[in-house]
Amino acid sequence: MAARILHVSDLHVGTREDPQVEAALVRLAAELGPDVVVASGDLTNRGRRGEHERARNLLQSLGAPVVAVPGNHDLPYTFPARFTTPWREFERAWETTEPMYASPSLHVVGLNSARPYRHQSGGLSDAQLRDAAARLEQAAPGAYRVVALHHHMIGAPWRAARKRPLARRNHVLHELVAAGADLIVAGHIHQAAVSERHEFEVVSGDARAVVVSIAPGLGQPRPQRLGEARGLQVYEIEAGVLTVETHIWRGGDWAATARRSFGG
Ligand SMILES: [Fe+2]
Ligand SMILES: [Fe+2]
Repeated sequence: MAARILHVSDLHVGTREDPQVEAALVRLAAELGPDVVVASGDLTNRGRRGEHERARNLLQSLGAPVVAVPGNHDLPYTFPARFTTPWREFERAWETTEPMYASPSLHVVGLNSARPYRHQSGGLSDAQLRDAAARLEQAAPGAYRVVALHHHMIGAPWRAARKRPLARRNHVLHELVAAGADLIVAGHIHQAAVSERHEFEVVSGDARAVVVSIAPGLGQPRPQRLGEARGLQVYEIEAGVLTVETHIWRGGDWAATARRSFGG
């Protein structure tokens, strides 16, 4: 039986919320019937309690368990809260910044790549990577293993890459592959990018594939900024084959615009 994941990112609740977009998302989720919804950070724009509550209400209305990780915008903008209690509001909404979802066919591990002392850039510590490996090891035999974080590991295809990728991304990629990750999903750049690692680096003596997938932004905090699509990703895993379908917002609804398959 196919497993299905709905991946949304960068809602930026607190900026331009669009009831039409949200209603269409609820409709799409009802059609797809995903096993799990993954929300890869920047759920809010300023990390305020009311924004977190609205983001949570929307995501929890999609009819599936939610794996939500924080982005750089989910931290409080105010001092000293940003440094003294950086995760309080996120954890109030979601309990943890590193959640997990496990079923016989899917295993999703969430990682917190946002750092209070850096406004934009993200990273993962060695302790987080060790912990991620231990959590990936708990996957049911044969389950498809997914890692979710906010910061991108592959770049934006269009807009000049002003945003830096995840710190130490080579190291992180190799650690996650060694730990058994099949798919790594992220956001932050508000554009779709999907690639299998053998497409972008020479890997000698290791045939294990890992697909890196960045979702476009669901929100559109700066609509005047050229090159930022509004969209989401849908993953379907069947018999070891991953299909990534990118949907974009067009003509007042979500429309599938690209489909790539990996493995098999
Ligand atoms: Fe964002
Ligand atoms: Fe971000």
